[in-house]
Amino acid sequence: RGAEGVAADLAGRHVVVSAGGTREPLDPVRYLGNRSSGKQGYALARTAVARGARVTLVAANSELPDPAGADVVHVGTAVQLREAVLKAAADADAVVMAAAVADFRPASYAEGKIKKRDGQEPEPVALVRNPDVLAELSAARPRPGQVVVGFAAETDQVLENGRAKLARKGCDLLVVNEVGERKTFGSELNEAVVLAPDGTETPVPYGPKEALADTVWDLVVPRLG
Ligand code: CTP
Ligand code: CA
Repeated sequence: RGAEGVAADLAGRHVVVSAGGTREPLDPVRYLGNRSSGKQGYALARTAVARGARVTLVAANSELPDPAGADVVHVGTAVQLREAVLKAAADADAVVMAAAVADFRPASYAEGKIKKRDGQEPEPVALVRNPDVLAELSAARPRPGQVVVGFAAETDQVLENGRAKLARKGCDLLVVNEVGERKTFGSELNEAVVLAPDGTETPVPYGPKEALADTVWDLVVPRLG
């Protein structure tokens, strides 16, 4: 047990966590982004430090302060996040992809600010696919026995979509977050379910992001090589 009475069950382990949301620049002043705050990923990093791990946090555009005791690599785009995660994953025991990675980026970057002109309609923004870091890691497993965890927020057919996504990505655990719909009942029913390829479903009741983070590590620990 560690200093704060927390089980040091990640002692001697290196874990990599991605957090936040990538931003894909259009020009020097504009980007395509998403609303991820980074809170879940930072909670995963903090709880892993508390459980004794060496932690690399790959943080995309989060306003949160660097967690004490973690090595933090700040990135902007999905391509930069991929670089940083793959580099850190080379000797990692586990990788948890909590970051919201943009699926697409603008096909081209304008070196100068895009200007509007009188009487001219805007150009459509052409997009290209970003690399899928989770799928790539799951397929490559840079370190044998490495545990790879993904996150997914789904609005409809949560478990069905989650199962399909788990299979498609090839990761060891998928944390599925239910969003929307049930909020209409007036209570906080956003719940996470952690899916495993053997069909196991671990429900996590609505609560602080630390509690979900600890549940994720509880499920990672027995799977570590
Ligand atoms: N992810 C990733 N690289 C991407 C997109 C997503 O590594 N280019 C990771 C996320 O970090 C997350 C998981 O994949 O852990 C699931 O992300 P999600 O957006 O739910 O999956 P997608 O395959 O992009 O499916 P969707 O079309 O529903 O967005
Ligand atoms: Ca996506």
